[in-house]
Amino acid sequence: MIILDGKAVSEKVLENVKETVQNLSRQPHLAVILAGDNTASKIYVNNKQKAAEKVGIKSTIIELPAITSEDNLLSIIKGLNADDDVTGILVQLPLPEHINKNKVMNTISPQKDVDGFTPENVGKLAIGLEPYFYPATPQGIIMLLDEYKIPIEGADAVILGRSNIVGKPMAQMLLRRNATVTICHSYTKDLETKIKTADIVISAVGKKIVRCKMDRNNSCVVDVGIFRNDNGKLTGDVEFDLVSPSCGYITPVPGGVGPMTIASLMYNASKVY
Ligand code: GUN
Repeated sequence: MIILDGKAVSEKVLENVKETVQNLSRQPHLAVILAGDNTASKIYVNNKQKAAEKVGIKSTIIELPAITSEDNLLSIIKGLNADDDVTGILVQLPLPEHINKNKVMNTISPQKDVDGFTPENVGKLAIGLEPYFYPATPQGIIMLLDEYKIPIEGADAVILGRSNIVGKPMAQMLLRRNATVTICHSYTKDLETKIKTADIVISAVGKKIVRCKMDRNNSCVVDVGIFRNDNGKLTGDVEFDLVSPSCGYITPVPGGVGPMTIASLMYNASKVY
């Protein structure tokens, strides 16, 4: 069994991004909007800013109070769309409940949508056109699989979770690479059989849900989940000690998908349209 070292691969990706940025004729500038005071979001945004600094991407964080109006947020985004110095816009999710996320996504310029969440970029991904940006987490996972030369073409890929941020774009990206994709969710029957017979399992649920031995000893298990267990320890969706001896490749938590997501986002933020 091989542990997929997301930390090491992310550092390699970041080195490449840094070099790309140095060779650009203009410095990329990522604007991050953080509305409200979600603790996890603050940590994520901080990590994104630190990574941007490391690779030479300028970043600006726009903090808004939780009571900020939807109109105010939309007008800030329109301002950033029109600002030629800003090359990337990221609105950290989740947003305060009174704000319509779809309206917000629909307002970001697709050419600056480093998350790949606007309807234009999502739609392009779905119909096989080239989006301006691929969503960071699935793109980071593909980078990690490719680095370890894990075959995707023809693989049976099982995705747990159908979110717009991970599950759905992950399915589209694996489909593009000619995997046979199954998306599982809370209504899925006989989940365990689906998991254990897969070549690639990608779990993005936020609960300890992968807790069976794998049937195929060359299979690859990717854990996107990250949360604190009852003892306060950071953990993922996969029961690592049980699953790891039965598979070929597995990501650790932390140090797997997390750092790859940040590196993948920086790759996106280095693209200037
Ligand atoms: N919240 C959790 N994941 C993400 C992400 O990838 N992008 C944004 N903008 N917010 C998130």
